[in-house]
Amino acid sequence: MELQRSLLRFITCGSVDDGKSTLIGRLLYESKLLYADHLAALEADSRRVGTRGGELDFALLVDGLAAEREQGITIDVAYRFFATEARRFIVADTPGHEQYTRNMVTGASTADAAVILLDARKGVLSQTRRHARIVSLLGIRHVALAVNKLDLLDYSRELFDEVCAAFAEFAADLGFAEITCVPMSATEGVNVVGRSELTPWYDGPTLLQWLETVDAGSAPDGPSRFLVQWVNRPDASFRGFSGRVLRGTLRAGDAVCTGGRTSTVDRIVTMDGDLAAAPTGSSVTVVLADDVDASRGDVLAAAADPPGVADTFQAHLVWLNENGLLPGRQYLAKIGARTVGFTATKSLELNEIGVDKVHLDAPVPFESYRTNRDLGSFVVLDRLTNATVGAGMIDFALSPTNVRWQNLTVDKEARVARNGHRPCVVWLTGLSGAGKSTIADLVEKALHAEGRHTFLLDGDNVRHGLNSDLGFTDADRVENIRRIAEVAALMVDAGLIVLVSFISPFRAERALARELVGENEFCEVFVDTPLEVAEQRDPKGLYRKARRGELPNFTGIDSPYEPPENPEVRLDTTALSPEAAAEVVVAGLRTLGVC
Ligand code: ADX
Repeated sequence: MELQRSLLRFITCGSVDDGKSTLIGRLLYESKLLYADHLAALEADSRRVGTRGGELDFALLVDGLAAEREQGITIDVAYRFFATEARRFIVADTPGHEQYTRNMVTGASTADAAVILLDARKGVLSQTRRHARIVSLLGIRHVALAVNKLDLLDYSRELFDEVCAAFAEFAADLGFAEITCVPMSATEGVNVVGRSELTPWYDGPTLLQWLETVDAGSAPDGPSRFLVQWVNRPDASFRGFSGRVLRGTLRAGDAVCTGGRTSTVDRIVTMDGDLAAAPTGSSVTVVLADDVDASRGDVLAAAADPPGVADTFQAHLVWLNENGLLPGRQYLAKIGARTVGFTATKSLELNEIGVDKVHLDAPVPFESYRTNRDLGSFVVLDRLTNATVGAGMIDFALSPTNVRWQNLTVDKEARVARNGHRPCVVWLTGLSGAGKSTIADLVEKALHAEGRHTFLLDGDNVRHGLNSDLGFTDADRVENIRRIAEVAALMVDAGLIVLVSFISPFRAERALARELVGENEFCEVFVDTPLEVAEQRDPKGLYRKARRGELPNFTGIDSPYEPPENPEVRLDTTALSPEAAAEVVVAGLRTLGVC
């Protein structure tokens, strides 16, 4: 019986100060979902440390989490389950102030409804607006505004109406299907579960009544979408695609397509035998009539109405990492069951939300987030650590550029044969004044004397021309190195030994350069000069200027330098003369077989 009752997933937004813990505690209590020992503990705790003069302090039920957090256990989102006669509920409670956006995004991504809580005395604050914007962004259409703490305003209808009007005005263009305002006191239990005679002027639902009746976002309808998570091939006689029906109903006999090829659903296989139809949400194995190639991350779709495939989108992005999003930096995006390269065109700080043009390095099946949350959302991962750093929602695809790769006849191998040596990038990285340019110059001189074909790209020089539009913000440095990595890769194609002498402070962009050029033709040289030594040398007087505050964002002073972890060559310039250092580099190149 319990399973037959519908399930509502909802999120609560608001802070402890607004009475959120008390509200959730009371919902759990009144729906009789508390175990006897929890209740006994609550009674004891309320007497001991409660703020309600010995009466039940519902906040204590939920605030247990705070204690866990103090012990260093991080809880991002707590999912609580409760049920009434009418419905089952999963509430995503998102504690914590610092990581609020991240927690909300995590909790709300599966929610159908949101309860936005505010303190009636304070009204609609910027925090409330922020919560409402995220709720809207994540596609939640049903919102209850819980106007709490009305007991402290003598249940004033006027003040309640004022708050509701202010919220309605602000939320007018957020696309909510419904906003229900409930006058409430969570501590007094007014209009949380039962109706109260303290608000005789209110004839709307109590919060629980609203939760019991709000549209639970019935299974999304429309053309079927099946996400392939695994190709199931136990032996030569069976080949099925295991995955989940994201939308619609998949039926045996349906015409489906993937990656431009069409076939028919032959069987829908489950542990309990074959099915004639698989509804939204079911996990099954699909056998097709033809030998169509599909792999993890592909979508089998109703042939008559397949999803789009694109690699460039307008998307809403939420940034979740202390290190801000940098335009042009290479990240990874996980979309559907696929992971692909990702770049954006704008900067975002931690917890910031923005609309941006994003680019993936391979086309993926997609739908707008409004149509399909599964195929319309992605997470952004750091390339080096694989940590989740952002989340995104696709608005629509941007038109393809119609640019195609052109194959050419004279290639790198032809040039290598003529030059008589292999090409390579020698990438020198280190602080300003570390000695990069001096050493690079000596290395090139030696190679040139041996008859090698070389070129030296020097930071200060390139910044006079190609990169004269760039300064020294993190974003500009990312773009500076991206361009140089591309140029160096072209020069390797041209058959040259390319010496690159840039501070290149970030690991991510040096890793990008290595990837672009190819592991076998990349030699990273860490010109390892400690800050004190570089600052003491100060060949251009820049450190002195930076210390006086005249040169903002100076590497090593107020802009970071991330030393290489595994350079091919490390040069300790406190022990080596520039000439000796250059010899070490040339010897390194011989070992690598370049010369
Ligand atoms: S990078 O960080 O983007 O790789 P790049 O190597 O091109 O830097 O340029 C560094 C040179 O610019 C330094 O050698 C120095 O002469 C000059 N410069 C001017 N301002 C700065 C700054 N704020 N930080 C570092 N170098 C600077």
